[in-house]
Amino acid sequence: MARRKIVAGNWKMNKTPSEAKALCEELIPLVKSDDVDVVFCVPAIDIPAAVEAVKGTNICIGAENLYFEDKGAYTGEISADMLLDAGVKFVIIGHSERREYFAETDETVNKKVKKAIEKGLTPIICCGESLTQRKQGIYLDWIRMQIKIAFQDVAAADAAKTVIAYEPIWAIGTGETATDDQAEEVCKAIRDCICEIYDQATAEAIRIQYGGSVNAGNAASLFSKPDIDGGLVGGASLKADFGKIVNYK
Ligand code: 13P
Repeated sequence: MARRKIVAGNWKMNKTPSEAKALCEELIPLVKSDDVDVVFCVPAIDIPAAVEAVKGTNICIGAENLYFEDKGAYTGEISADMLLDAGVKFVIIGHSERREYFAETDETVNKKVKKAIEKGLTPIICCGESLTQRKQGIYLDWIRMQIKIAFQDVAAADAAKTVIAYEPIWAIGTGETATDDQAEEVCKAIRDCICEIYDQATAEAIRIQYGGSVNAGNAASLFSKPDIDGGLVGGASLKADFGKIVNYK
């Protein structure tokens, strides 16, 4: 069975709540689609405004992070229950910016993935190599390690419902996109790794996005690759162009 494409915007630290409402309203008519799942991952404080704005549309709201404990003395953190209660369906976990600036590790990514799954949120699990790692020729080993740790103690049936985002760090916000073949090589390697950890059925079911300077001009060729099931989009998700990316065909 063909996998349904999923295109998610990662707004990062952009838009106030009132700006978020306005952007949702601008994008709603542009991202209508019968065959692509559409997610806006927004800053935590924008979640109520975004959930309200997209009611009755095909858009789901996602968060950009969560904490792996249920509750307690974790000043500044946000729990899965809080996100769920606010109407969130998806959560980005382990984005390279969180790994770089907020000391996230493969181990905390694994804890967050398990908590999201336990609570019924769909994790969008990020992985990807630096330019140095690509030049060293270790990028596939690196990403296989990230995937193996992220999925430690996750059951096959749960893994099948998650989303993985391959985001080469050198392509994020740089305007330098991985070529279609470079992106496909890694997305296929990730699927093969899922097959090794679990089985063919899980590998066939899981959706793998490419992220890194996706735009209205390159989405169609990237998304036509057999192992690329959509995109995780940064800069271009804040513009009308996001509609063109969702409706790439
Ligand atoms: P850009 O699309 O701005 O390169 O960002 C990609 C990204 O980090 C999405 O999570």
